[in-house]
Amino acid sequence: MKKLILIALVCVTFIACKNDKNITEKKVTIEEKTESKSELIARVFSFSEKQYEGLIKRIENNKPLLLPRGVTEEGKLRLKPYHDWTSGFFPGSLWYLYKNNQLDTWKNHAMKFTQAVDSAKYLTNTHDLGFMVNNSFGNGYSLTKNEAYKDVVVQASKSLITRYRPKVGAIQSWDTTPNMGWIAKRGWNTPIIIDNMMNLEMLYKAFEYTKDSTFYAIATSHAKTTMKNHFRADFSSFHIVDYDGKTGNVRSKEQGQGYVDASPWARGQAWGLYGFTQTYLNTKDATFLNQAKAIANYIMTNAKIPKDHIPYWDYDAPKIPNEPRDASAAAITASALLTLQQYVPEKKEAMIAYAESIIRKLSTPDYLAELGKNQGFILKHSVGNIHSGEENDKPLNYADYYFLEALSKWKSL
Ligand code: GLY
Repeated sequence: MKKLILIALVCVTFIACKNDKNITEKKVTIEEKTESKSELIARVFSFSEKQYEGLIKRIENNKPLLLPRGVTEEGKLRLKPYHDWTSGFFPGSLWYLYKNNQLDTWKNHAMKFTQAVDSAKYLTNTHDLGFMVNNSFGNGYSLTKNEAYKDVVVQASKSLITRYRPKVGAIQSWDTTPNMGWIAKRGWNTPIIIDNMMNLEMLYKAFEYTKDSTFYAIATSHAKTTMKNHFRADFSSFHIVDYDGKTGNVRSKEQGQGYVDASPWARGQAWGLYGFTQTYLNTKDATFLNQAKAIANYIMTNAKIPKDHIPYWDYDAPKIPNEPRDASAAAITASALLTLQQYVPEKKEAMIAYAESIIRKLSTPDYLAELGKNQGFILKHSVGNIHSGEENDKPLNYADYYFLEALSKWKSL
């Protein structure tokens, strides 16, 4: 029925405009406006459920149960165990589907895949515990109030703060031991990456649950150190700042997943925006709000980002426009702006409009998969780490996660 209405509308527009030189332009405008916000949200959630239903059927009987991360170079589904940095995103997406439909089937799916991440709570060799545990157990606790989930969040936070380096005033991101592949070859001492801002939300939750102020103090110190050293004058950020763990001095500022040291890696800018927005939410310290506002301004006014607001993997990638876009960076940005807008009355409308334009673009066939294709993921066209030669212009579970999160936030406005 909806299809018929759409065809009728397009035909009416075509007849009305047939003497007009801008027929194509007018047709596009009408087609874009045909779908209301509520229709779009219902369509995309319904599609996502069907798409993930297919994915779940393929993997639910695996022993051990593994978490879908993306697609290999050969086009196969890439599954990962609990200790992969992306393990929490798939269960997190299932929680967003359950939040939207309130169906027990989806609650059960979310619980099952959340449980598969449980052992991550004891890891002390990674800073990615917020991604792993907060997105799975943290979201699970918010929606179910299951006390056992809360305990996992607290245990993971205890593991995470073992990586706090007092002289630096921040949590070390990566280890530099020989088993760390390309990271071990860069000669770093105490590398801290902008992504690490995303792990602080879990520490603030642990403070709320336990009243142990250590969690709060470490998270806030990390944010202050990052704010001081990671940003350039225009509020773009470096990916990596390496510190001397003994003195706290900065050793170098570099790229890791970006193009060059001086260029803005797209997802890094989005992590910073999201991370400082969350830190403000948890501290109500205006310094962090100002930082988030400045990063938002840098992104929203950036001429290097295409008009549809889906950035290339690095704003300065050398062969633009023949470079892959990164849907994950766009989805993270949309989600962050939909939270930040609440605290920025003077930019509220502009931030919502920017987020809406990202969501609308990601909801078109340019980015939204066809049912049963894309190895079961919702979005196409993200970039993991371009230098690895893998996961470039591929689906990634974190693009799906932040897209569903953004849809969920947009729905509640
Ligand atoms: N390390 C997380 C990312 O690739 O964004």
